[in-house]
Amino acid sequence: MHRRHFVASAAAGVVSLNGQALHLADRLATWTPSATPDKVADDEDFWFTVRQAFTVDRNNINLNNGSVAPSPKSVQQAQLDYLAMTNMSPSYYVDETLYPAFDVVRGRLAARFGCDAEELALTRNTTEALEIVQFGMPLERGDEILTTTQDYPSMTSAWRQRERRDGVVLRMISFPSPPPSVDDLVARVERAITPKTKVIHVSHVYFTTGQIFPVQRICRMARARGIEVIVDGGHSYAQFPFTRDDLDCDYFGTSLHKWLSAPVGTGFLYVRKEKIPKIWSLFASPPEMAANIRKFEGIGTFPVHIRNPITEAVDFWESIGPERKAARLRLLRRRWVNAVRELPKVKILTPDDDAQSCALGALSLDGVTGPQLTDWLMKRHRVHVRPREVSGEFSAIRVTPNVYTTLQEIDVFARAMTHAATRGLT
Ligand SMILES: Cc1ncc(COP(=O)(O)O)c(C=O)c1O
Repeated sequence: MHRRHFVASAAAGVVSLNGQALHLADRLATWTPSATPDKVADDEDFWFTVRQAFTVDRNNINLNNGSVAPSPKSVQQAQLDYLAMTNMSPSYYVDETLYPAFDVVRGRLAARFGCDAEELALTRNTTEALEIVQFGMPLERGDEILTTTQDYPSMTSAWRQRERRDGVVLRMISFPSPPPSVDDLVARVERAITPKTKVIHVSHVYFTTGQIFPVQRICRMARARGIEVIVDGGHSYAQFPFTRDDLDCDYFGTSLHKWLSAPVGTGFLYVRKEKIPKIWSLFASPPEMAANIRKFEGIGTFPVHIRNPITEAVDFWESIGPERKAARLRLLRRRWVNAVRELPKVKILTPDDDAQSCALGALSLDGVTGPQLTDWLMKRHRVHVRPREVSGEFSAIRVTPNVYTTLQEIDVFARAMTHAATRGLT
């Protein structure tokens, strides 16, 4: 029965490549609905069908899906369709059709995040989302912001600019990769709090190693002390399922061109309702908008057509199933990690347990820098990864598969690493 289903699906998959991608999504949604995510994680028939949705170049092995991920065909097509609509009568179609549909997009994203739609602003990316809060939060000279050495450099730069402009003070702590425990991470943050700490800025998933941070514990600990927490969710939304209440956060920003596979240039900002009035918008907004989440969206004219396909990207994610996706991503990471963990000179920087990791993993190779290894992997093996370095802490590569990654591609990477660890970059 299962095999028949697969053959029919594969045949229909060809049809989907010619523009009926919705059928592909429908098939994924109804696939062995009783199977648990862990069973689907290694059901290669299922992931074969998922792969039909993408148009990636198989002559390179893309193991950097962290920066931006490809969109499935259905999302690419929606983007083209909305662009075509825009050009048919720009002012009319944008103002009367595409723009009002933003509230549909907002609603779908909010439902998945578990917040009220009136708490979610559409942005171009995480940088915009977080900088709205970083620059919009009232702070006094001498107030301290606590962050880590592994937080995203643009976000650290934003705080440094506020230091120069407003006299606030940025304090940074480091943590080991991998950390000895989740308790250790919470304790490090807690120990670094001073009477002047007003904001804690942490990532939900660290872009360096993929470390998932204990955000809920930090938010609750900080709230009890009257400290605000800004959560950089650039890498978490749609990588694995969670809701606002799982984090218990007041501010969260993400990019949808990463794990949701939405068009490049899409993201969102969540602000808890009672906090909206006190955050200044980055672009000016009138006083009557003070409590309206849309005050953060007034960026002037921009390519509206890239936002409407977000709904299609949410459909695609839901068709795969958020739990199934996370289970598959963990399986892919563990496949390469288990193949290289015992190699000489290799150190895995990412913890293995589900609470602390999902798709992303990082490794360092003694005597070789991250940029050197990245360069060699591309030149010798056509494997694309990203170097990740934290000054004085580590120089590593980050490996980031996605749902379309094949087991064979993971094995090519693992064999290349075996060569690098035993014979050098020859
Ligand atoms: C943790 C984290 N925050 C913020 C960003 C910035 O994302 P964007 O360039 O989409 O704004 C990234 C990008 O990789 C990231 O990994």
